[in-house]
Amino acid sequence: MSNLWVGATTPTTAWVRGKVSSSASVRLVVSESSNLSSPAYFGPVAPTSELVASVEATGLDPDTQYHFAFEHNSVVDTDWQGSFRTHPLLGEPGSHTVAMATCAGSVAGGFTASAVSNHPVFDVIRTHPLSPLLMIHGGDLHYRNITTNTPASFRAAYDDLLTFNGQGASARQGLLYRHMPIASTWDDQDFGGNDSHAGSPARPAAQQVYRERVPHFPLAHADAIYQAWGIGRTLYLMSDTRSFRSDYTDTDGPSKTMLGSDQKAWMESVLTAPGFDAQHLVWIMSSQWMGTSNDTWSYYATERDELVQMLGDTGWLPRMCQLSGDVHSLAIDSGTGNSWGNFPVYMFSSLDSTPSGTTNQYDSGPTKGGRGQYGTLQVHDNGRDLAVTGTGWIMQQPWRSHTSTLSRSTLARHDPPPASHVIAL
Ligand SMILES: [Fe+2]
Repeated sequence: MSNLWVGATTPTTAWVRGKVSSSASVRLVVSESSNLSSPAYFGPVAPTSELVASVEATGLDPDTQYHFAFEHNSVVDTDWQGSFRTHPLLGEPGSHTVAMATCAGSVAGGFTASAVSNHPVFDVIRTHPLSPLLMIHGGDLHYRNITTNTPASFRAAYDDLLTFNGQGASARQGLLYRHMPIASTWDDQDFGGNDSHAGSPARPAAQQVYRERVPHFPLAHADAIYQAWGIGRTLYLMSDTRSFRSDYTDTDGPSKTMLGSDQKAWMESVLTAPGFDAQHLVWIMSSQWMGTSNDTWSYYATERDELVQMLGDTGWLPRMCQLSGDVHSLAIDSGTGNSWGNFPVYMFSSLDSTPSGTTNQYDSGPTKGGRGQYGTLQVHDNGRDLAVTGTGWIMQQPWRSHTSTLSRSTLARHDPPPASHVIAL
């Protein structure tokens, strides 16, 4: 066994994926007890030629803590034991918290080597008092900046970040993703190099190895990794801003894109018919909505306006927020500073990258560049009102929070949106 992580959890299922030491078949052992007593077994499955085994646990109870391990060659490998909590029932009022962050591993420092990180922040998130259900990684899992079509390089990057270059089962990042399900999209440094786009030679290898290695929600496209899922009455939509991206040097206009036409059509279909009683939208992406540099939406302004129109037409603008990263700082805008949709914008970065992006552009005050930084989003849903609190954290310390309260009338679908954001900065 050389790594193991969990992701794509639902009220009744979870995907567990890991790399084993031989081609012998693998079973997933799942128990409500940390000593794995009275387990349920899933599988067996045969590992791939890369010795990666993926097993789905099904038929689980909602809102329940589970523990798991792989059984390989008749041995349950408890050195690599993990845990997860299933989601509350989909479409029902369900309060919950998710963690979100981006950017780990730029420039060698105290906790980074070979462009992957082993920062103590991963332990802080894993043991967080708010017990996040999910770790949403908004890009730059590593900074290998692979610019060639070499799957082996991407595989090595995942191996190294999960085990921190040989530290194995105690590596902090691997430990986090083994005890908190991951939902992960990429940014440039873990896709095809700095400011990379659809033309990156690394694109096929990035796509292939993401599918081999990363536990993920269902993918709607063979050449992109955008995903959507629900928790309670919240719809989470995670964009892929790299697979179809135009070069930032292209002239802005209707054909210049960050998401691509297939992704936008998919997005509109999900926003129109989420498939459950979704009352609140969390839009996740790596790129900066309000930033001004060449890798941000300001260089794709025509498409940004088009997306605001789509979010308005489908009724989401008054009951949504956005989680993003890219620049290595914390930032919160309650919506008044967001001229493109007026929804709250949270930038939760960086886990462990060179601090950057100090600006006064956000209405809650100056941004905070740094490492050891991440965010939480708490959704309080009592069945009537729905309150959403985004908090930036610097290690164990809360940095700044904002709460939006969506009243009953705002939540009623197709009603005229009164946009009753209660600002509590
Ligand atoms: Fe980054």
